[in-house]
This record gives sequence, C-alpha cells and structure tokens, in this order.
Amino acid sequence: WPALAGDVAAIQALKRERNAVVLAHNYQAPEIFHTVADIVGDSLALAREAARTDADVIVVAGVHFMAETAKILNPAKTVLIPDLAAGCSLADSITAADVRDLRRRHPGVPVVTYVNTSAAVKAESDLCCTSGNARAVVESLGVKRVLMIPDEYLAQNVQAELPHIEILTWAGHCEVHERFTAADIREAREAYPGVTVLAHPECPPGVVAEADFSGSTAAMQDYVETRRPAQVVLITECAMADNLAVRNPDVAFVKPCNLCPHMKRISLQKIRQSLEGLTHEVTVPDDLIAPARRAVERMLAVRA
Ligand code: 13P
Ligand code: SF4
Repeated sequence: WPALAGDVAAIQALKRERNAVVLAHNYQAPEIFHTVADIVGDSLALAREAARTDADVIVVAGVHFMAETAKILNPAKTVLIPDLAAGCSLADSITAADVRDLRRRHPGVPVVTYVNTSAAVKAESDLCCTSGNARAVVESLGVKRVLMIPDEYLAQNVQAELPHIEILTWAGHCEVHERFTAADIREAREAYPGVTVLAHPECPPGVVAEADFSGSTAAMQDYVETRRPAQVVLITECAMADNLAVRNPDVAFVKPCNLCPHMKRISLQKIRQSLEGLTHEVTVPDDLIAPARRAVERMLAVRA
C-alpha cells in the first residue's frame, strides 16, 4: 500500500503540473478507479467527457480504441495511453478494408460501428454506437436494414429488441464476454437463490436471455444503485463488481466474472510513468480524423 500511495500522490502532482486529466473505464482496477481517475464511466460517458475537457493532456486508463476516440475528438491535445498493448479483441476483429467490402456487398445499407474499433474502421462508418446507446442509434436511422459491426452478439441482442429491422453483422466477439454461458447463470441462481443477474450485451444472446437485465456498464451501475438488489451477479469484467462494491457496501456481489487482460495492463505505476514521460502518445492520421470524428459526433448527437 505505501508504494501505491506514493504513485497516487505523484500522479496527482503530475496532473496539476501538466494540466492533465485521467479518464478511467469502469473495468479499471479499484486502486485506479477510486484514486487518480478524474472521470469514470462507460465507453459512452468517456467519449462525451473527452469531447468536453479543457485539459491539455488526456490520459486514458482503458484500452487503445478509447484513447483513439479521445484523440479523434481532441486532435490538438496530447492523448496518452499508459500501455500501448492494451488492445481489444473486438477492435482486432475488423479492418477498414473489411468495411469497404461489406459496403460493396450491401450497397446503400448504413453502417453502425461499435466504438470498440480502430479509427480507420470508424472513418469508413456512417456512425458509431456503444452498448449504452446501440438500440437508440439503430432506431435513429429510420431504415429497415442496418449493418451493425463488428460485435455479433451485441447486434443479435439489439436485433431481439428491434424485430422490425434487419440487422446484418460481423463475427467479432469480446474475448471476455463470449466466455460466459447460460449454464454459468443457472449455476449462480442455484448457489444464490433470489440473486439478481445483470449481463453485458457483449454476452451471447443465450446468456442475455437468462439474465434479469442487460445493459452497458453504466446501465448496470444505475440498476444496482437505484434498485438496490440484496445480492447481484454482474456477468461482465471483474472490476465492475469490485468498483461498485466500494460504493455500495450493503449490496452483496457474487461470482462469476471474467478478467479483461487488456484493461488489466494499466496500473498506477504505468499511469505515473505515462505522465512523467508523456508516453505513449496516441496519434490518428490526419486524413482519418474528420471522417472518424463525423461518425463519433453523429453518435453523440443521438439521445439514448
Ligand atoms: P461499456 O462500458 O460501454 O458498457 O463497454 C464495455 C466494454 O467492454 C468496453 O471495452
Ligand atoms: Fe475489448 Fe472485451 Fe476487453 Fe472490453 S472487455 S476491452 S470489449 S476485450
């Protein structure tokens, strides 16, 4: 703990010195989330806050696509990620060439792209979505057919809510959420009778069907903090329950959960090093900024 306290104090001083903010995703470890983060939230909240900040330096305690999104919205600012290898299986599942090919095969069908993608993929898209606004984004288009990429399960889960729209998708998956099964939920219900089950929509549809509620990490937080279940299992990344448990000591959080190895690459020590050396700077090629920004800003304009 003294080592952690030293890193926290150093990070706070460096933030003042550099006029920096730390944006932390809900899957960051509690020692980051509850200490040095200035803004915490789901992917949608982090994108909104990145668009608003007047800091000179933005440190993203999250994964690479989140830092790219912050850069797309703030091309003149320094955007840092404490570990360049913090990637995402969804972002790795599709390329810009794949999107161009999909457009050739489905002419005229709008492309809704999950924010968990590279800037190059966003630049080929009509607009972005997150798990917090996916349904609203698809509905906002007012069309009968949509390409929703690259998360197959998110697309299938939205499809179940919007049967009147044909949603075409891609075979990308989150390596954390694809590992959950319906049997995990049934076992949790047997072990903890009466437990409330919340599942992230990156989970397969069979898992979401067994849950009491499905929503983004912010929606899960809202559910816990407004409905106050006595016992809850969050079918998502482990840090989500760890962070909520700190703020909600009266709620019992039970397993299962899975770890995201990419999110877990970020540590207090790496955040400190990032602010000390202004590393690792995340850049987006100039020609991609405008089209990627259009897709992100169109998303931010949709009321979820
Ligand atoms: P949300 O926080 O938007 O629900 O996203 C989950 C996720 O997996 C981010 O990588
Ligand atoms: Fe990507 Fe899944 Fe990790 Fe989120 S939890 S960063 S979607 S691999």
